[in-house]
Amino acid sequence: MGIRAMLRAAVLLLLIRTWLAEGNNTTSIPEYVFELSPTMPAVIHNVFNCKNCANETVVGKILDRVLSGYDARLRPYFGGDPLPVGISMYVSNIDHISEVTMDSKVTMFFLQTWKDPRLAYCETNLNLTLDYRMADKLWVPDCYFLNSKDTPVHDMSVENRMFQLHPDGTVHYGMRLTTTASCSMDLQKYPLDKQTCKLEVESYGYTVEDIMLYWEGDENAIQGTEKIENPQFTLLGKKVTRNEEVFYTGSYVRLVLKFMIQRKIIHYLVQVYWPTIIVTISSWVTFWMNYESSVARMTIGLTSMFILHTINSHLREKLPEFSCIKAIDIYMVVCFIFVFLSLLEYVYINYLLYSRRESSRCYRLCRRARKIMDQYRYQLEPELQRGPGWRGSNDPTCEAPNMATERLKYCLVDLDLGFLEGL
Ligand SMILES: *[C@@H]1O[C@H](CO)[C@@H](O)[C@H](O)[C@H]1NC(C)=O
Ligand SMILES: *[C@@H]1O[C@H](CO)[C@@H](O)[C@H](O)[C@H]1NC(C)=O
Ligand SMILES: *[C@@H]1O[C@H](CO)[C@@H](O)[C@H](O)[C@H]1NC(C)=O
Ligand SMILES: *[C@@H]1O[C@H](CO)[C@@H](O)[C@H](O)[C@H]1NC(C)=O
Repeated sequence: MGIRAMLRAAVLLLLIRTWLAEGNNTTSIPEYVFELSPTMPAVIHNVFNCKNCANETVVGKILDRVLSGYDARLRPYFGGDPLPVGISMYVSNIDHISEVTMDSKVTMFFLQTWKDPRLAYCETNLNLTLDYRMADKLWVPDCYFLNSKDTPVHDMSVENRMFQLHPDGTVHYGMRLTTTASCSMDLQKYPLDKQTCKLEVESYGYTVEDIMLYWEGDENAIQGTEKIENPQFTLLGKKVTRNEEVFYTGSYVRLVLKFMIQRKIIHYLVQVYWPTIIVTISSWVTFWMNYESSVARMTIGLTSMFILHTINSHLREKLPEFSCIKAIDIYMVVCFIFVFLSLLEYVYINYLLYSRRESSRCYRLCRRARKIMDQYRYQLEPELQRGPGWRGSNDPTCEAPNMATERLKYCLVDLDLGFLEGL
């Protein structure tokens, strides 16, 4: 009994253990190692064993295969659904935003992405990067910048274009270019203004039935704008939109990128505002000057006018010739008016004091004349006592006082100071 029971229990335990081991132990399954025989063809060998190690022979074969019979004139899915083409940009610089020519220069890496099933390959799962020489062998979208004046693709040291092929036929086509995009500005608040500059991308020939442009990654389609440093402007933000435009030949998708920028005021503070404020205030120095120092007063007034004019004409050079009245114009006119009024003040004061100054001059002359008369009084006394009859006298000693009296009378009539001093 005891031995039987023990045997039964042992068998039961063994069964449970086996069941447990089979039910929940994956590592006990022996690994199946796939050994390749060296006689297999190279392509199949690659598919299984060399997914990530395509050498030039393999890649050369891939390119030969996909490009043989490839017609670069026809878009992918020709005659079928429209091809979605994703657009994205890496903006490396926005510079030379000019008010005179109303444009801005944007340097960027312009990337277009689409899928071309004719270029799919399965020999390797590596992405293939190809250079500018592929540009005329493959079909590429005909995107252009609607509002650009000039868009050269950089060619240092070779043309800056690249293709990246993915195994599923996705193509990334990137190029580095600088576009001079026109940017109409409203200068009414200049230089305290904010501007919006646009960059519009559109397919040149393919309508919505052939190509659907879209921003790749929507808001993330534009990268690199955080690092942009522009001495003239601060970048406030960017915005991407997509709309459809209808022309005679059909409707086209237009992608619009907007840059909101604000002018930096510090440059104008240093070059325009402070100098003009100081010049205007220094023209008021004349109020504390003697009204008789006309040379100094006129010099200060006219020099201030001249400096303001110089600053104003320097300012004009940076602006388009025909434009509206700007905030800075009003500011400069106010400065001019202040300086001009300080000049007018001098003229007015001069006019007011003119008569008083004349009378004071007479007063001074009369006083001097009286002094001289007092000086000569002792000589005149006897003469005056003698009366008018003495003129007929033959006394030679009377000659001198007689002449002095005549002269004095004459000068008192004329109030001529120079003559008096000659006495
Ligand atoms: C197998 O073991 C794991 C833990 O190692 C456990 O989570 C799982 O439930 C078990 N499965 C069965 C069928 O017992
Ligand atoms: C699975 O079984 C093996 C022996 O076959 C053993 O070494 C291993 O520890 C077991 N693993 C688990 C999770 O039971
Ligand atoms: C390239 O790889 C294939 C298969 O892996 C091999 O047969 C061939 O010799 C290699 N060529 C070179 C140049 O390494
Ligand atoms: C190929 O590119 C895609 C997308 O950029 C990426 O997800 C993938 O990892 C790349 N493949 C290899 C092998 O690097």
